[in-house]
Amino acid sequence: MTKQWHIARHIDEAASQEALSDAAELLRQGQTVAFPTETVYGLGADATNTDAVKQIFMAKGRPSDNPLIVHIADRQDLPKWTKPVEGPVEQLMEAFWPGPLTIIFPVRQGTISPLVTAGLSTVGIRIPDNTVARELIRLSGRPIAAPSANSSGKPSPTRAEHVLADLDGRIGGIVEAGSATVGLESTVVEWAQDALHILRPGGVTAEQLREALPGVTVIAPAGGEPSGDAAESIDMSPGIAADTSSSAAIAGEAPRAPGMKYAHYAPRGRMILVDGADPDAVASTIRRELRAAKSRGERTGVLTRTERSALYEEADVVVACGTLAAPHTIAQGLFAALRQFDQDEATFILAESCPEHGIGAAIMNRLRKAAGGNIIHSDEGH
Ligand code: TXA
Ligand code: MG
Repeated sequence: MTKQWHIARHIDEAASQEALSDAAELLRQGQTVAFPTETVYGLGADATNTDAVKQIFMAKGRPSDNPLIVHIADRQDLPKWTKPVEGPVEQLMEAFWPGPLTIIFPVRQGTISPLVTAGLSTVGIRIPDNTVARELIRLSGRPIAAPSANSSGKPSPTRAEHVLADLDGRIGGIVEAGSATVGLESTVVEWAQDALHILRPGGVTAEQLREALPGVTVIAPAGGEPSGDAAESIDMSPGIAADTSSSAAIAGEAPRAPGMKYAHYAPRGRMILVDGADPDAVASTIRRELRAAKSRGERTGVLTRTERSALYEEADVVVACGTLAAPHTIAQGLFAALRQFDQDEATFILAESCPEHGIGAAIMNRLRKAAGGNIIHSDEGH
């Protein structure tokens, strides 16, 4: 049975302390505990205990060659698990910790389980910007390995109910405390060859990194390129293979990276991302594809923004996610929106793209994966 604790009050209050101490005890005993962070809910286990970490991979159905991020509560603990790193890493920690930035360090051998690092000589570390998460980690007295607390392949969980929908009965416990505020996972960065490389776009944008590190080269993955977390999509559970053969308008980029064979963050229905600079062309392309899908007998869905939801009345399911005027609201709602299509049983989903600057880079990274690389460019042929 999965234990549940709900933190409704300040972490210093007795009821909160009691709940968090119980949850921390479970972690110390080598069990898995899901907990909220500012990005998404994580599924935690003691990163120094290989048997505990194994439980994470089993609960999620995650391939073991994909390393986990280690969460700590205090920068002072860093030297226990890592060796010093070159480059502007001090500045990065100063600017973005606690927060949605994971930094890759050389691991101190013999401390963190090799299952966490997938046998690499490095480890990704972050301090979450969530007081409940930090207090849980602090009380456990351990570094906590935690991937997103979803079944591998599914959208990441931004609410406790998403975690329970995927993992109830498969994990030791869950600490519930509201919704994730960022809504997308942390940005993963590594210092190498005199430059800061973004391995996975996320809650901290490339623009923010450049601003914090004047004179430093920050290398962001080009749009559409598989990024550092493609490996989670090499899934042992039955993923949904992307099928690009049915429509000539869909740009199917073969051969794909192995991980692109399976959908990640994907709703059960087939999803296609509709790209294009002209919002009217995007809408008319989506409406055309909706009509075609309806005639095939699909239950259709559209993922759009609040201000555009009236454009798609012919769809069976319209999910309005955030507003373009405040792109962080799109990030906040994205994973819940993707899950909504499953609840409403959409079999064919058209998703609007968003401009790829700021947090938009991370949003588009997740949308491309959710669509398994299936993209229609609405500007073509107009
Ligand atoms: O926001 C987040 O990062 C969430 C919350 C729970 O903290 N966690 C999360 O973990 O997204 P996960 O396991 O879903 O993603 C971990 C990412 C993967 O892209 C993995 O490849 C990368 O971090 N990663 C971890 N350790 C690494 C390493 N040593 N070298 C390169 N990439 C690494
Ligand atoms: Mg994940």
